[in-house]
Amino acid sequence: MTTKKHILLGISGGIAAYKSCELVRLLKKQGHEVSVAMSRAATEFVSPLTFQALSGHPVLADTHSGESGGNGMAHINLTRTADVFVIAPASANTLAKIAGGIADNLLTNLAAARKCPLAAAPAMNVEMWFNPANQRNIARLQADGISIFPPASGEQACGETGVGRMPEAAELADLIPDLWTPKILAGKKVLITTGATFEAIDPVRGITNISSGQMGTALARACRAAGAEVTLIYGQIQTALPPGMAENVHALSAQAMHEAVHHRIHTQDIFISVAAIADYKVRNSSTQKLKKSADSTPPVIELAENPDILASVAALPDAPFCIGFAAESHNVLEHARAKRLKKSIPMLVANEVSIAMGSSRNQVTIIDAYGDTPLPEMSKHDTAAAIVQHLSTLLHQA
Ligand code: CTP
Repeated sequence: MTTKKHILLGISGGIAAYKSCELVRLLKKQGHEVSVAMSRAATEFVSPLTFQALSGHPVLADTHSGESGGNGMAHINLTRTADVFVIAPASANTLAKIAGGIADNLLTNLAAARKCPLAAAPAMNVEMWFNPANQRNIARLQADGISIFPPASGEQACGETGVGRMPEAAELADLIPDLWTPKILAGKKVLITTGATFEAIDPVRGITNISSGQMGTALARACRAAGAEVTLIYGQIQTALPPGMAENVHALSAQAMHEAVHHRIHTQDIFISVAAIADYKVRNSSTQKLKKSADSTPPVIELAENPDILASVAALPDAPFCIGFAAESHNVLEHARAKRLKKSIPMLVANEVSIAMGSSRNQVTIIDAYGDTPLPEMSKHDTAAAIVQHLSTLLHQA
């Protein structure tokens, strides 16, 4: 189940502090407790009262002290109850001081006195980001075990364009739980397909299905959180792409997905085929929009077989560890067991279409050479974490 944590959020001076208001809200929505500590400069961008209202806790600001515990040692007390300390936004100045071990204000004291892990989301002008001293500080912080959320690229508050923007609050809220997730897939490269394929009939019409892509994106997040480098190949999806992927590749038809997979598969350790791939494409698809015939004769759509991507990957001489999915409407386990054997794959996840497709919840049974492992009905997020746990166990047994 999703773990609830106490997150200490440090805010240093920068216009990106406004994004941290939303970050507090999203982390609280995930069920975490959030305490906020602000530098003096940060209080000039957003009022401590705003963070107090959002977090539900008094905010410790550099402008006054002694609010956390009666011993006047707020910088010690705050980090002792926190599971993780996240500084977002982290200014170049704050990062430089922490890299050098300087503790001359609230945030740098908290960083120096902490016992919990520290992560930082840098936010600064593009020239400041690439400044050699800043890059040296970032490398130093990473070598000291501090996690850095890479800044995004785009238009900056100063009017310039480039790398240095703090990631959006939704992205940080997505990535922060990775900090306490055990790295059971560390060093592994995982390729995942997700969503529905779309086989064109003409430029505006096609054959597709109701897969939303949620199970595949949940698995991409779970593999990323477990320390894997993840490539996500997606067809039609009705959900947001997860941040922190090595590569996101859009491939709409089964043929395009086949090419995208085979182009990348040779460097991968694990292949998870979650996509709902059309077994047939339209042989007589039209490059022009089909017109209704004058005598109302319906057009004839001819089908041709698509490649079976999973079976083709499993048959490679250097095949990665393959996981398939089986979405069935009836005789779920019987069909799923047969599919695993037919495609020669070590692990297959069976689910029933009426529960799984288009929903944020799922109830799956994992099938492997050792038998069937039914999981309870739960969110796709939790289902994905359980699948990754099972995968890691099988990899260790192999
Ligand atoms: N799959 C694939 N290529 C295809 C069809 C399916 O790689 N052309 C993969 C899916 O991503 C899934 C597994 O094979 O991991 C099973 O897909 P599913 O559609 O349930 O089964 P099919 O093999 O297509 O068999 P059927 O349609 O008869 O149920």
